Amino acid sequence: MDDFYRDFILDHYRNPRNFGHLDHPEASAEDLNPLCGDTIRMEFEVDGGVVRDVRFSGKGCAISQASASMLTETIKGMRLEEIAKLSKDVVLENVGIGISPTRLKCATLGLRVAKSAAIGEIAGWPDEE
Ligand code: FES
Repeated sequence: MDDFYRDFILDHYRNPRNFGHLDHPEASAEDLNPLCGDTIRMEFEVDGGVVRDVRFSGKGCAISQASASMLTETIKGMRLEEIAKLSKDVVLENVGIGISPTRLKCATLGLRVAKSAAIGEIAGWPDEE
């Protein structure tokens, strides 16, 4: 693995960005990687359909936690609809390394949770007449 990316991943793992909980999140979701049982939770503060603030928590390997940490920086300020449509490419770009299919499950855990939180919040909106 390229040293820069390894250091970058370890930095996010050791100093996770936006780690913790929001007092009153409008949207949240939690899920696990069924292969290992590691979990991630995402919480959003939403205003006008835009994620104004985000926190994540959980436990897991360096790739899953670092990838979730990087993702929180990516999605802050995005519209819920944009988050719901994100593909795994955003995670691969963030992590910046080629990873095996097993590690891909680790890297995309946070993305899956973030998309669930966004989709759940969109689904909870009142129907427009
Ligand atoms: Fe559990 Fe990576 S080994 S998420």
